[in-house]
Amino acid sequence: MSELWLCSYVRSGLRIALVIAAGGFAALATPASAQQPPAGNAHQGRIIGYTCLGCHGIKGYRNAYPDYAVPRLRGQSVTYLINALNEYRNGQRAYPTMHLQALSLNEQQIADVATYLGGKPVTAKPVPQSAVPKAAQVCASCHGANGIGVAPMYPTLAGQHESYLIRVLHEYQTGYRQSPIMDAIAHSLTDAEIRTVAAYFSHLKPGLHTVPRPYTRWSGR
Ligand code: HEC
Ligand code: HEC
Repeated sequence: MSELWLCSYVRSGLRIALVIAAGGFAALATPASAQQPPAGNAHQGRIIGYTCLGCHGIKGYRNAYPDYAVPRLRGQSVTYLINALNEYRNGQRAYPTMHLQALSLNEQQIADVATYLGGKPVTAKPVPQSAVPKAAQVCASCHGANGIGVAPMYPTLAGQHESYLIRVLHEYQTGYRQSPIMDAIAHSLTDAEIRTVAAYFSHLKPGLHTVPRPYTRWSGR
């Protein structure tokens, strides 16, 4: 019901109502995510993360079916990566391979591997609101006009693969992936708007990168 209400508001152009509503969810969501995960150890994470690089360390590596690029992780918020791994573990995100990967890790290992894979969070100069396409303006309040998440719980979208962003927004629409904040927002987008926002955020620089593979003779150490 409330979702329909939100959608009709968005469609009539009163996007600000959605931002306020979503902001409310964000405030509600804070106490749960405020449980401090253990501090991550990047050195340990690098050892654990070796298997992850088989997919996340190969530029342009794609998921076979459905076809989309495996997400870039380097520069991503470490807090967000920890949340994501916990969501794969508890089934809030349905992707089977990642569910198994996350199940094999304990809380400390999740913090370690997220710290290693995320590395130094990417930063960027502010971008004027006028440069943001209309469909992406509502997103900027959390994901930044420059695509950099405004708080650690908000993922950075700058430089993320376009095909992955499109895939994820569809996943929220179908309920394949669930988020109290993003579900309603994704439902409010048309396919054309999804293509516009994905193109905008994926082309922003500086942005996320593929994690370099430290153990090959090409990437050095
Ligand atoms: C077989 C390939 C594969 C392997 C191995 C793999 N991943 Fe993934 N990973 C994926 C794919 C594909 C997705 C996107 C899944 C989806 O649509 O939810 C993903 C998503 C993620 C995400 C969510 C990113 C985001 O932006 O929300 C994180 C975090 C992650 N993987 C971490 C890891 C870690 C840590 C490991 C190793 C322990 C690992 N992955 C191993 C393929 C892989
Ligand atoms: C009120 C804050 C808020 C707003 C506004 C918002 N988002 Fe999000 N977004 C989030 C949060 C929190 C997550 C993480 C949810 C999860 O773990 O699934 C997220 C996740 C995402 C992801 C998944 C990223 C990944 O790496 O897997 C995409 C893509 C995304 N948002 C796109 C958008 C777009 C496009 C808009 C505007 C149409 C938007 N968001 C508006 C808070 C917001």
